Amino acid sequence: MALYTSDSRDRVRDAVDFVELVSARTELRRAGPARYEGLCPFHDERTPSFGIDPAQKVYHCFGCQASGDVFTFVQETEGVDFKAALELLAERFGVELEREEEDPREAERRQRRARLLELLDRTAAYYERYLWESTEAARARDYLKERGLGEEILRAFRVGYAPSAWDRVLLASRRGKFSNRELYDAGLAQRSRQNGQLYDRFRARIMFPLSDIRGRVLGFGARATSEEQRPKYLNTSDNDVYHKGLHLYGANIARPQAARSGEVILCEGYTDTIALHQAGMSNAVGLMGTALTGEQVGELARMAQTVLLALDADSAGQEAMLRAAGLAAKRKLELRVVPLPAGSDPAELIQQAGAQAMQSAVGDSVPFVRFRVERVLAAGDHSSPEGRDRMIEQLRPVFATLPPSAMRMELTRTVSGRLALPESLTETLLAPGGGRAAERGPQRENGSRARGGASGREETEQAFLALCISSPQEGKQALESLDIDEHFASELLRRAARRLREGSLHEPMAGDPERVGDLDDDPELKALLAELIVEAGREQAHPAMLEVQRLQLELARLDREVQRARGAGDGDVNALAQKRTELKREFDRVYAQVLDDTGEREG
Ligand code: UTP
Ligand code: MN
Repeated sequence: MALYTSDSRDRVRDAVDFVELVSARTELRRAGPARYEGLCPFHDERTPSFGIDPAQKVYHCFGCQASGDVFTFVQETEGVDFKAALELLAERFGVELEREEEDPREAERRQRRARLLELLDRTAAYYERYLWESTEAARARDYLKERGLGEEILRAFRVGYAPSAWDRVLLASRRGKFSNRELYDAGLAQRSRQNGQLYDRFRARIMFPLSDIRGRVLGFGARATSEEQRPKYLNTSDNDVYHKGLHLYGANIARPQAARSGEVILCEGYTDTIALHQAGMSNAVGLMGTALTGEQVGELARMAQTVLLALDADSAGQEAMLRAAGLAAKRKLELRVVPLPAGSDPAELIQQAGAQAMQSAVGDSVPFVRFRVERVLAAGDHSSPEGRDRMIEQLRPVFATLPPSAMRMELTRTVSGRLALPESLTETLLAPGGGRAAERGPQRENGSRARGGASGREETEQAFLALCISSPQEGKQALESLDIDEHFASELLRRAARRLREGSLHEPMAGDPERVGDLDDDPELKALLAELIVEAGREQAHPAMLEVQRLQLELARLDREVQRARGAGDGDVNALAQKRTELKREFDRVYAQVLDDTGEREG
């Protein structure tokens, strides 16, 4: 359940002066009745490709694809989450936020959670003091110093030390009026198997507080201080407050710099993260010993557009990269790999070769696909034809992820050069199905949105939706005449089409969340709608063009149907083909009409 009522959210949206808000980040000039333009505040450019619709309060950049509404704008420029953006705007534009009615059980849970968070925060402060002030922690202080980590950065990360006695945290917390139960629930105490007594979970360890994106301590990672102590890192186990795999180490500290630079560095460990920050790369976050999860990839995507993977060259690190690639493909997230010397992590590299060495490794990052291609080529057997064929086999799935692009061409050239094969043959061999595909003719990639733009098919669908918005009346009819599941390729575009059909084409962002769904829960859809609105505002209303696009969708759907029928050896193929020919004739007629009209208007 949302914290604030959707009504107060709407009041905030209404109160915001969007032109004023955006103008603080970039100079805008009027470029049409429903459009202002300026240099994009999200990427470097010389000519404006950034536009806003001041009435609907949405923005889109045709250069870097940033898009969204008043809330996303603040989220992205200030590096905060939705709730914080809402609170910030409410304060700035003088709107009082109303909380949703809470049921008493919910209120009790919230209060209990607040107590546990307070306990964790106090404990973190206790460990911190203990690290810097106690005699017992002298060895830990020396150790951290030897590793090249200075006091300033350790304090920023609130690193601490847990005393070796069995009951210090226990006693301190009882003095603070916390119950045994609360200690146990916060993951700070455990129960003895012999006598059921509680004792401190963390003893004689260097303590790394694990925080959420807002910097609230949820748990700890605790490093052993001697070889005998096992495990090397003891982490808070899953409990009501801390869920492993949901967070990234240091995200709260890295967030502003990641938002500014558009890049976030992902490394493996606590010490790596801290060392990177100290070496000036304050957009680094750490994985905390879990395999990368979908939630973490989501968090990365909220922080920046590009993720620089600074993971170990060992197999676990490689595994994490592949996972990241799989998960990133579903979002507009660019993955690059930071080349690290074999067997060293960022903390070691920085300590042995200096901050500069690490910075230049980050500067030398390569796109993830290139990295995979290079790896196959480096590991394969180049001396025999069988070896080269095996490399082709391994490279094919890598190339399957690559849309037709300059990058694909360049990598094809790399492979052709290294395997000493003609370029055209290489291209054929790397296509889906390898040599066999050549006989079937070229295959069109469909499905996933290519980075920085949509595939041909999705472009058509998107253009159609933008035209629906610019001619709302005809647009509504056109949308109602289509079968959304059949006519739209991607799930995202289907969601957009459904919302536009159910809701208002005049105000696609508005609408009762109960009926058309809550946009703030669907950031992808929100971004797409913003893009469509800004796109629609760029062009004049053009109902005839809308018809052209609708017919094109219809044609594409028929093509798919023909293909399906052909694949199934269905007798309907002829009838379908006939239908297609008729439709194509209709399409050509309407299209010629549109071209004529435009010619007349311009001439
Ligand atoms: P590493 O063993 O590479 O540790 O584990 P590290 O970060 O380089 O630590 P130092 O440099 O020896 O102090 C990488 C990360 O995996 C998790 C921790 O998050 C660690 O930072 N890990 C490792 C665990 O959670 N438990 C373990 O027992 C070991
Ligand atoms: Mn290390």
